[in-house]
Amino acid sequence: MAPILAGLLMELIRSLLRPLHRWVWLDTARRARKLLRFAETEADGGRDLVRAAEMTTDSLLRRHFLRHARDEQRHAELFRGRGAALLRVLPEPPRSGYRADWLAPGERGLDDLRVEELEVDALLAFLHLSEKSAATDFARYRDVLQHDPPTRAVFEEIVRDEAHHMNYTFSQLVRVSPQHHRRLLWRARLGRLWKGYLRLAIALAGGISWLILTVLYFTLLPPFAYFAKRSARQEPAGWRPVSAERNASLDRQY
Ligand SMILES: [Fe+2]
Ligand SMILES: [Fe+2]
Repeated sequence: MAPILAGLLMELIRSLLRPLHRWVWLDTARRARKLLRFAETEADGGRDLVRAAEMTTDSLLRRHFLRHARDEQRHAELFRGRGAALLRVLPEPPRSGYRADWLAPGERGLDDLRVEELEVDALLAFLHLSEKSAATDFARYRDVLQHDPPTRAVFEEIVRDEAHHMNYTFSQLVRVSPQHHRRLLWRARLGRLWKGYLRLAIALAGGISWLILTVLYFTLLPPFAYFAKRSARQEPAGWRPVSAERNASLDRQY
């Protein structure tokens, strides 16, 4: 019952976010930035999977991880290529630069995976949820990109791979941990929720501190600026001309 309710809640949240996603992907500069950001995340995921392949003693898993790593590297190249193509058609470079955008974190960007710290079953549970989230999010972005067919095609291709990753990580998790896979999935889910909460809290803290500084700027600075201007008017600073009498008296002295 609980998973069904959680699924329905997530579906409701995603439906409410759909207009927001449409707006986010409408702007070409922002679209380019996000694709370049996704490219970084995918390449990072590929490196994690190579590390996981090096560490596992299970030959079947090693083959899966290596193939998965190749897929993630290809995704990185697809995103980078499309992001760069969008940047080239912009009349001028985007002003806001090349920064992360928390509205659409993409695959594993949220999670900062440390392969060495996880047992292989916990790693598979983690990967399964990340791939599931990526497949769902990328399908959603594809659906709001009717105005940009090349970018939509990139997502279309990547979503197919993410669905495969989601399925193989689940079947391998059940194989290596037939008794505990559900518990591992719940633990991984709670870990993701906690990291999501931290991410939101950091964003909120940033917003609140910006608001406080803006209020202080407009309430505390104007009185100081006023008094500084007034005293500058009363007592002009800098070099002042010397009168002729004072000049003559100085000449006599020296
Ligand atoms: Fe990917
Ligand atoms: Fe993937």
